[in-house]
Amino acid sequence: MAGFNNNFTDELRQRLSIVDVVGRRVPLTKKGQNFWGRCPFHGEKTPSFSVNEQKGFYHCFGCGEHGDIISFVMKSNNMDFKSAIADLAQMAGLKLPDYKPKPPEQIAREKSYLEIQELAAKIYQEQLFGPAGAEALKYIRGRGFSDEVIKKYRLGYAPRNNIISTKFASQKEANLIAAGLVRRGDYGLYDFFRDKLMFPITNSRGEVIAFSGRSMDGSEPKYINTSDTELFHKRATVFGLFYARDAIHRANRSIVVEGQIDAIQMQTHGFPETVAPLGTALTEDHLQILCKHNRNITFCFDGDGAGQKAAARAAGLVMPLLRDNSDIRFAFVAGGKDPDDILRKTDGKKIMEDVIKSAVPLVDFLWQMANTNYLVKTPGGRTQAEKFLRAETEKISDPNLKNEFRQEYDQRKFNEWHKWTRLRQGSGGQESATMPKVDAIVQKQLSEISAAYPELIEKHSEFLIKLGINFDNATAGAVCPLSETDAEKFIVALKLKNYIGNLNADRATALKEMTPESMSRAKKLDSEIAATQEKLNKLSEA
Ligand code: UTP
Ligand code: MN
Repeated sequence: MAGFNNNFTDELRQRLSIVDVVGRRVPLTKKGQNFWGRCPFHGEKTPSFSVNEQKGFYHCFGCGEHGDIISFVMKSNNMDFKSAIADLAQMAGLKLPDYKPKPPEQIAREKSYLEIQELAAKIYQEQLFGPAGAEALKYIRGRGFSDEVIKKYRLGYAPRNNIISTKFASQKEANLIAAGLVRRGDYGLYDFFRDKLMFPITNSRGEVIAFSGRSMDGSEPKYINTSDTELFHKRATVFGLFYARDAIHRANRSIVVEGQIDAIQMQTHGFPETVAPLGTALTEDHLQILCKHNRNITFCFDGDGAGQKAAARAAGLVMPLLRDNSDIRFAFVAGGKDPDDILRKTDGKKIMEDVIKSAVPLVDFLWQMANTNYLVKTPGGRTQAEKFLRAETEKISDPNLKNEFRQEYDQRKFNEWHKWTRLRQGSGGQESATMPKVDAIVQKQLSEISAAYPELIEKHSEFLIKLGINFDNATAGAVCPLSETDAEKFIVALKLKNYIGNLNADRATALKEMTPESMSRAKKLDSEIAATQEKLNKLSEA
């Protein structure tokens, strides 16, 4: 439309999910490929209003209304184009650019920019397959890249001499500099990339907009990228996305790895849905762009400290984008290796499959982080861990989902942290207030039993220790209202109840798995539960 820079409306379409935009106004439910709701443009009882997230369109089968995020906001709010854009920009967290037509000079500049990048990619590839590129070609073939892959990803070689400044002599100097390929020095123009293995970086249309160059002589930094330009923003460019897009829809998830070589190796070894951020740091923009495709992301980072840190960062950034059907996971490659190292092994693909399969779901990953980064055996550490979990949970925007996360962690805190505290501190411990009443009563009774019949406690100590009950504060000579037989029955009943609890937990896990094996396991557990319950009943009758 006239006025707004197409880049900006494209950017809005790229960043905002139509499901989020429509979802602000119409409750939507996913059925099959599409989301469905009741059409806001005509009165209806049964939903015939469909939203296609991948294509970014809505369509009403009742009244025929259809369009994209912009027309939806215009029509549903009765807004003009400009206000709709302002509204969407705010939703996307973008600054509204000036509302004025793109000046012809800018259009010409962008065209020349793309032409320069395209031509440069061609020249770099010619160089790679020419005499100057012999070393580089040997190197990249040696890393397992077939010529077919080299051509598909348009890898190239920037020679030592200033090839761009020479070959592009007819181009305007300013355009070359603006394209990031050339710089001005004391002795005239010089090439930014020299003696580098070149990886073209493309936009969503597959047009080359920048390059990443790998140093060939071991000099640091290992990679240099085109600095940000009018058409290239490193923070908001996902490497490999143009090639991965269809696969991300087919696989219904994306995989994010740390490096671009890793991304290419993954894409060409059975994981075509893989992408990488550019430069080391993943940004919110990268995730927003990925989430436009779908919200199922498996992060696959190196198993070292840096990889853990990157994963923690990714988790923090993804929280606000979570939906109730998102599937976010974290996989780690062990042994200081990256996916590329693994894939080059004989069984690489199989190992990588296992790595991806063993990825930890987000809810567990955050829990693990809380438990490894803080000393949860101390009240102070637990407080810190709790603050961390709360801060992460708070970032979730869907209130129901947020609540589920909170409850999940409350439960884990009780089951895992306070169980430990009970073990350490016994009934007199400061945490006893958070324990359920029944436990306090049981504790009191056991204390009494321990005072009256210490040998019973001794006899069942293995089990009682597991319960985490501490008898240090049992008062000597306390009166126990139970006979020794009844006291023992009390302990045995406790044991059986505890056993039933464990069986139930196993059964729940088995049911969740929903595989034929797990279902038959659940059935076996059912009868074991019934048998144990029977024993328990007999015990109290006797
Ligand atoms: P790595 O150092 O893990 O490199 O950086 P790599 O991908 O394994 O590279 P190879 O296998 O030795 O060729 C991971 C990513 O971080 C960015 C690059 O995008 C790289 O792919 N990076 C790394 C830089 O941008 N600059 C650097 O100097 C180093
Ligand atoms: Mn590597």
